Amino acid sequence: MTSELVNEVPSAAAQNAVFDPEAWYAGEIERTIITEQELRAKVAELGARVSADYADTADELLLVGVFKGAVMFMADFARALTVPVKMEFMALSSYGSSTTSSGTVRILKDIDSDVTGKHILVVEDIIDSGLTLSWLLKYLEGLRPASVSVVSMLRKPGVQRVDIPVKYVGFDIPNEFVVGYGLDYAERYRELPFIGVLNPEVYQ
Ligand code: PRP
Repeated sequence: MTSELVNEVPSAAAQNAVFDPEAWYAGEIERTIITEQELRAKVAELGARVSADYADTADELLLVGVFKGAVMFMADFARALTVPVKMEFMALSSYGSSTTSSGTVRILKDIDSDVTGKHILVVEDIIDSGLTLSWLLKYLEGLRPASVSVVSMLRKPGVQRVDIPVKYVGFDIPNEFVVGYGLDYAERYRELPFIGVLNPEVYQ
């Protein structure tokens, strides 16, 4: 029995190959801009800040994650908090091309619970044009919560087309096409544990 289990454990060489960013999508990722370690440290930092800010909130904080990109960050961030939370997820469809959003948003999956009087923290992976978030904030504010704030792991400064208040930002990044840690191109690369710049040859 024991030897069977041992035999199922991948060799050290195999594990290294799986977790070696260079081995992933060879040639498709131009370079890493945020490493897995840097992401982990930032999640811990954001978790500590948010926990301190909501420590005295009597009611549970409600995290609202936006599918699909925010799933990785949501899972890590929720576990970095030291205050109790509830979690909701929304799926939105933005009418636009594969690389830009238009600001016209349709709800594919709404939140399931009544958020009246709740403190909401929207959990996003990236703020690009800001149009998705701008629409979402207006929608959530219409549900009469006690408050709505935003935490986003990434933001591209200078490209927002609307002015949106974002209380917690992980990293400001250059205006390049990035993938990994939830972010995709044509549904690929979401599983990468780091943020990388996609080689333009992939999408040109
Ligand atoms: C991405 C990302 C944000 C939004 C940001 O979602 O997760 O929600 O775009 O872009 P914006 O600031 O220009 O509006 P996307 O619509 O690509 O869906 P996905 O999360 O399923 O990949």
